[in-house]
Amino acid sequence: MSGSGKSTLANEIDKRFYQMGIHSCVLDGDDLRFALNKDLGYSREDRKENIRRAGEISKMMVAAGLLVLASFISPYQSDRDMVRSMFSPGEFIEIYVQCPLEVCQGRDPKGLYKMAQEGTIREFTGLSSPYDPPGNPELVIPTDRLSIIECVDMVMSYLIHRSFLLDIPI
Ligand code: ADX
Repeated sequence: MSGSGKSTLANEIDKRFYQMGIHSCVLDGDDLRFALNKDLGYSREDRKENIRRAGEISKMMVAAGLLVLASFISPYQSDRDMVRSMFSPGEFIEIYVQCPLEVCQGRDPKGLYKMAQEGTIREFTGLSSPYDPPGNPELVIPTDRLSIIECVDMVMSYLIHRSFLLDIPI
């Protein structure tokens, strides 16, 4: 959800990859919505299209040899499954950046929860628009209970354990 720590985590992992000589890039919901996807809103259909485009861009980046860190709310399981189906088995790793709604609201880094509660923003995920928690993600990262370094280490351990980073000197 908004304020769960997706972008922070993606950017920190990106830095770690850079230090390791791994070519990666972050594809972030906010960035895409400011540019390529600025024609889209937050209806069910628009969110689906937002995620479909994110999947297609990620595919191009993966084909170019990049490891893509896609940080999106992506509130519907069917949309996450759609993107998974665009990739070969094992190529798509779903990471649930888990944080209770009250903690996200307390953080409110962009003041959006406040605006949603005041009614200035409609269809806000977790308040006035649904969020389906991932049913079977590869990894769950509880950002309310771990430090950012611990969250990054969890992702790195997963990748090493599953041999994604086998040939990389670390
Ligand atoms: S998604 O649901 O369509 O996957 P995405 O990750 O691209 O969402 O964009 C979410 C970001 O858009 C949030 O981090 C927040 O900054 C902003 N935003 C603006 N309005 C909304 C809204 N109604 N619901 C959720 N996020 C919103």
